[in-house]
Amino acid sequence: MNESSHIPVLCDAVVRLLHPEVGQTYFDGTAGYGGHAAAIQAKIGPSGRLLLVDRDLEAIAALQSRFGGSATILHDDYLNAATELLADNEQVDMILLDLGVSSPQLDQAARGFSFNADGPLDMRMDQSENGAASRTAADIVNTAGERDLADMIYAFGEERQSRRIASAIVRARPITTTGQLAEVVAKAIGRGQKIHPATRTFQALRIAVNSELEQLQTALPILTQLLKPDGRLAIISFHSLEDRIVKDWFRRESRDCICPPEQPICTCDHIASLRILTKSPVPGTNDAFNPRARSAKLRAAVKLTPKPKEA
Ligand SMILES: C[S@@+](CC[C@H](N)C(=O)[O-])C[C@H]1O[C@@H](n2cnc3c(N)ncnc32)[C@H](O)[C@@H]1O
Repeated sequence: MNESSHIPVLCDAVVRLLHPEVGQTYFDGTAGYGGHAAAIQAKIGPSGRLLLVDRDLEAIAALQSRFGGSATILHDDYLNAATELLADNEQVDMILLDLGVSSPQLDQAARGFSFNADGPLDMRMDQSENGAASRTAADIVNTAGERDLADMIYAFGEERQSRRIASAIVRARPITTTGQLAEVVAKAIGRGQKIHPATRTFQALRIAVNSELEQLQTALPILTQLLKPDGRLAIISFHSLEDRIVKDWFRRESRDCICPPEQPICTCDHIASLRILTKSPVPGTNDAFNPRARSAKLRAAVKLTPKPKEA
C-alpha cells in the first residue's frame, strides 16, 4: 500500500487549527498512512518531533517506510500510547485523532471491514498477537445473544431495524464471511435505500470489535492532560456518536462550572482546561477520491494555562 492511496481528510483545516510551529512536538494517535503527519512535519521542520501511533501493523509498516528515523512510530492504541507518555511526564504541542478506518483497510477484502468485498468477517484493526486476543466480528455475530446483538446494532449502528436484523442473523448462523452477512441483512430489511442495507450493521460491528467509543471516551481526559498549555487538540470524526463524545468533552472542559444548571450556587471544583476553536464543526468535503470525507466533522480546542479557582 503506498501513501497516496490514503488521502488525508480536511488536511488544510487540520494544519490551520493545530497551528504548527518550528520545533514543536506532534502526537498523531491514528497516524494511518501519515498524510496529516507529513503536512505537520513540513511545518515543524527537522527540529520538531513526531510521535506516530497506529494499532494496525500494515499502517505501522507504511509509516516506517515513509518517515524512517525522522519519527517515533508506536504500534499501540492511542489510549495506551497517550497513557504511557503521560506516565513518562511527556507533554506535546499538538494532538490529532482522525478516527475510524483508513481507505486501505476498507479496500482489502481480507480485513473484513467491507460489505462490498467478500472476505473473512474479522474487522480487527490490530491483527497482531495483542489484537488476536480480542474478538473478531465473526465471534460476536456467532455467539452473542439475539437481544445483545439487536442492542449493539441499534446503539452503535443507529439502525432502527436492529431487531429484525438480529433475528435474521441468529437464524442464519454460522456466518463467517462479509458477503454472507451483507446478504443476510439485505434479505432481512430489503434494499430500496440510498446506502447499502448492511452499512449500519457493519459500522456497529466495527465499533464493537475495536472498542472505538470506549477508546475515545477514556482517552479524551488523558489527551487533554498530555497537551502543554497553549497546545492544540483536533479530532476528525465520521459519525454522530463519536462527534457527540468530542462535543460534550469540549463543552465540559471549556466551562469553569459544571454544576447542574438548576443549582444556584457552584459547588464543583471544576476549572476550564480548554478553549473551543470550532464553534461548529468544520464539515468534510465532497472528495471523489475519498467518499469517507463527506461525513467528516472536525473539532479543535486549545489548552488553557491552569489558573486557581476564585473563592
Ligand atoms: C482514517 S485513518 C487515519 C489516516 C491518517 N490521518 C492519514 O493521514 O493517513 C485511521 C487510522 O487510525 C487507526 N486507528 C483507529 N483507531 C485507533 C486506536 N484506537 N488507536 C490507534 N490507532 C487507531 C486505524 O488503524 C487507521 O489506520
